[in-house]
Formats: sequence, structure tokens, C-alpha cells
Amino acid sequence: MSAETISLVRRALTHYRDNTTDQAPGTMQMPVDAYLDPNRYAAEVERIFKHLPLALALSLELPEPGSYRALTMLEVPVLMVRGEDGVVRAFLNVCRHRGAKLCPDGADKTRLFSCPYHAWSYNHRGELVARYAQESFGEVDAATHGLTELACAERSGLIWVSLTPGEQFDVDQWLGDFAAELDTLDLANWHLFEQRVLPGPGWKVTMDGYLEAYHHNVVHGRTVGQHTIGNLLVLDTYGPHQRLTFGRKTLSELEDTPESEWNPLEHVRLIHSGFPNLSISGILGDHCLVSHIIPGPTPETTTTRQSILVAKRPETPAEIAASENFSAMVLQAVQDEDYGIGLGIQACLDSGANRDFVFGRNEPALQNYHKWVAWFMKQQADVNWSDSGT
Ligand code: FES
Ligand SMILES: [Fe+2]
Repeated sequence: MSAETISLVRRALTHYRDNTTDQAPGTMQMPVDAYLDPNRYAAEVERIFKHLPLALALSLELPEPGSYRALTMLEVPVLMVRGEDGVVRAFLNVCRHRGAKLCPDGADKTRLFSCPYHAWSYNHRGELVARYAQESFGEVDAATHGLTELACAERSGLIWVSLTPGEQFDVDQWLGDFAAELDTLDLANWHLFEQRVLPGPGWKVTMDGYLEAYHHNVVHGRTVGQHTIGNLLVLDTYGPHQRLTFGRKTLSELEDTPESEWNPLEHVRLIHSGFPNLSISGILGDHCLVSHIIPGPTPETTTTRQSILVAKRPETPAEIAASENFSAMVLQAVQDEDYGIGLGIQACLDSGANRDFVFGRNEPALQNYHKWVAWFMKQQADVNWSDSGT
């Protein structure tokens, strides 16, 4: 176990003993308009979601050459495919003949992508390699009719993509020290147990719920809150990305155990929050919840792609039942509890009850997140975000 892990658990244990939590220097006001204004929303989605690298898929969804994942993100049809060389590339999922959607959203494996309209075919590098009845069609320059590529990089078990064609990014710069932190999760070697899409409230209301421990005992007493200590947060930041550490209920056992005998990660719960819309939550040791929050067409809605990961494929009836129970628990915690509250907030945002929301000192990750949203909105597209801080 690393010295960093020990020190992390020491910090959590100190908070537990002292009944404290990491805090921001002060409370923070946030105008409710930031959640409501459609023009502001459109500008933020454009600047933040369309021009920053987004983790669109998990490496484990594309396990071998020819594995692909197609999805639509903010009305951008994206096709990610692993080539024979092992490299994942991303394209607009649109045929270069007359614009048919090349393959339906979903994940599968294929040798070639053949368009459902007139059967133009593309390989894993997006190259146009065959055209149905090409003699009668006439000349087409294959070199200029490949699929439109999107900048794409695979790091730390995730596939990062820019939604804007022609825009490049440096994934190492984007992640900074967060990459090494994500690497400790070894995400690429987990297995997908279940995946589903949940409708939820607006982007900011939804994200807010992923960024604090303050609500845990109140909202999740019968689900994930059974395992974690409410209102105890240890926070580490990596530029706009954050690692939230919650204490598990078993943390107190460490009080009477020598550090040399600690198995520290059994006593905390780590949440890796990738700006702007990714949450990787290790709720129980061998199960993990990955949430991709996808803004809707208006400020009022999102969808969340929930991926339930298992460290080892369940085989025995008891293992399968444990994974099914975990999946059902997080579904209830997120859909019924978090999004139940969130949809209620969303419905009352324009009631006039609040001109501002207040983020507590015990909600520092929430404060950071909104500061980073504001920071990105002030920058030009070519900004070097690693220069800044919160
Ligand atoms: S639109 Fe794809 S082959 Fe015609
Ligand atoms: Fe929650």
C-alpha cells in the first residue's frame, strides 16, 4: 500500500475522530439564474462540452480490434472504434456519400462499417474502402471521402474525444496528475456488468449531487449511505478534476489497529470526478459505478449513462446475486433518491423562492466545480488550463 493511501486514510480518520470535514474558506453564493438561463446554458455547453476533451467511453467497451461504440452526445453522432493496431479512433458517425448515419448507437464488433443507404464501406481507420456499384456511380476520390475524424486519445481506461472536428487536444495536459490517480483504478481491467441510461434533472442540479457528502445520511440512509459516513469529505484537486474521499462506516475500526495492519482502501470510498461530466465511484471494493452525465437540449434535463463495473466477472449464483444487488442499490440511490430530489429542485428553480443558492464550507468540491465552469467561460479556446487554479 502506498504512503499516499495511508496518508489519505489518516486524513479521513482524523476527520472522523474530530467530527470534522474538509472545508472551503467560506460559503459561496451562486445565482439561481446560472441553472435556468437558456442563453447561458447554450454558451456553457458550447464552450465546455463541445471544446474540452470528454471521456465518452470506457476502454473496456472496446476490448479488441473491430470493437466499436457509437453514441450521440449533444446531437453529435460519434463512432469510436479500435483498429488492428490497437489504437482507438473517433469519427463522426455519418456517411460521406449523402450523410446517412453509418451505424446505430450501441456497441458491437465489425470488420467494416457499411452504410445502410448505398453500402459505401469504411475500415477501422475511417478510410473509404469500397463503394457498391462504383463503376456506374463514377469517380470519387477515396482520399478525401474518409469519415470525418475527431481528436481522440485513450488514457487511464477511458476514451477521450473532442466533439468538434478539426480541434486537437493534449490529453496529458488535460489530465495532468489526475491521470496517475485514475491509473490506480486500473479501469481497463474491470468488466461491464450492466449499463443503462437514466433521465435526470438539468446539468448543474445533477452534477451538484455528485460533488458533496453533505446529503448522504439524509438521502441515502437505506442505500449507499449504509456504507458511508455522511458529511465527511477529504478532497484533492487536480486542476478542474477532483478526488473525493468518503469514510466508510468501518473507518472507526482503524482507531484500534496499528497502521502496519491497515488495509486502508477497505475503509474509504473514492470518487473520481472528471471535469465536466464524469464520476467514477468505488462504492464497494469489487464493484464500481461510472456515470457519464450528458446535458440535454435545454437546461432542464440530462441523461446519465450508468455503467456498473465488476472487478471480476461474477460466476457463482452468490457472486451474480451480489452484483445484481449492487446494481439495484445504485439504481435506487441515483434514480429514486438523488434524481428524485434533483427533479424536485429543477421543478422549483423558477418559483422565485431563491435568487441565489448557497454552497456550504463543507461543500468545497461543489464550489470548485462552479468556479471552474466560470473559469472556462472566461477563457479563449486556445487557453492553457494547466496554468490556472481554484
Ligand atoms: S449515404 Fe451512405 S452510401 Fe449513400
Ligand atoms: Fe447522492
